[in-house]
Amino acid sequence: MNHPFDSVINRKDTEAIKWQKFGSDVIPMWIADMDFAIPDVVTKAISKRIQHPVLGYTSAAESLADCVANYCSTRHHWSIDTGDIYWIPGVLPAVTAACRIAGEIGEEVIVMPPVYNPLLEIPEKVGKKRIDVPMLYTPAENTHTGTWSIDFDSLEKAFSNRTAALLLSSPHNPMGVMFSESELHRIATLCASHNALLISDEIHCDLILSKTKKHVPTALAAKEHSQHVVTIMSPSKTFNLAGANCSFIHAADPQLLDSISHECLYTVPLVPTLSYCAAEAVYADGWQWHSELIEYLRGNHDYLMQAINQSDVLSMDKLDATYLAWIDTNKLTSEDASDFFINAGVGLSPGRQYGHKHYQRLNFACSRVLLEEGVERILNAVKNR
Ligand SMILES: Cc1ncc(COP(=O)(O)O)c(C=O)c1O
Repeated sequence: MNHPFDSVINRKDTEAIKWQKFGSDVIPMWIADMDFAIPDVVTKAISKRIQHPVLGYTSAAESLADCVANYCSTRHHWSIDTGDIYWIPGVLPAVTAACRIAGEIGEEVIVMPPVYNPLLEIPEKVGKKRIDVPMLYTPAENTHTGTWSIDFDSLEKAFSNRTAALLLSSPHNPMGVMFSESELHRIATLCASHNALLISDEIHCDLILSKTKKHVPTALAAKEHSQHVVTIMSPSKTFNLAGANCSFIHAADPQLLDSISHECLYTVPLVPTLSYCAAEAVYADGWQWHSELIEYLRGNHDYLMQAINQSDVLSMDKLDATYLAWIDTNKLTSEDASDFFINAGVGLSPGRQYGHKHYQRLNFACSRVLLEEGVERILNAVKNR
């Protein structure tokens, strides 16, 4: 029997941004949403709520807060107080608000590229100076298990009394790296000793492909520094609810949470009523769907690794997390390879936007048959170039 995620769903008539960007002859494998159907529990919860004829301003139900506390504890062994949460319709508005209230205008925010591009843009948008501490790559001969790691020597040097914050993507988009408890603790200690805010974007924390590693929330790894940590999570990547806009900010320091929520007043809208429903449905009952998803993504990941690494021109290292492959194109061209792949009929995310032009990011959260078609186009184009 086919896997439920094998169905190819036509998204073209749904104004899906992913499917609008390129011509109809290009398979879109760029922006981070999945081509899979959402869990049934979401459809049921929204259908039930919509039976009520009023969709007025809504707050988070206590039952949702309890679901989230239960989720943090059972999934991430992280015990939280539901009073330490602020609901917000998106991770990026949360990162922006936290970055804005950190330190003073003109102070510095550290980022570790290559990294999800908005994290590179937000510091300057809020009047801060961005300080880059690039991640380090250690290749592994022939095994495709090269690793990206934090350059702690440079990170320590980058901190000063002008550091207002550090923006972390954990697990890391686009390289799919998971950080260990001790790495997270070390970052938090640096932040705490410079009175800087550690803003931890953990949107990918439930997309773990590794069978041996577990996601550690930064606030848990850095318990004694938790006053300096802001954690942002969301069901949006995990359950394919990116268009449903529901996320939460956790801060153990009530003053910090207050400042962030105050910053959001009037600039960030409330979470939509139906989005709360979707979030509660998945946190409570979406986990069977989620385990099928992870099994499917692991299969896609392994297939893609094997196929890409067959070529002696492209290469891809094993991911710990996310459905975003980070493909090295340096042997194909010393320039950005996006147009090459678009001409081949596959739309990827250019590595240059994350801070590394020798890579392309490929979203493999689609049916296997579509992925196979994309890979075939890529490999043929490389072979016949
Ligand atoms: C690391 C990271 N943070 C934030 C977002 C966007 O989150 P939202 O749409 O909730 O603002 C993404 C989306 O790809 C992401 O990868």
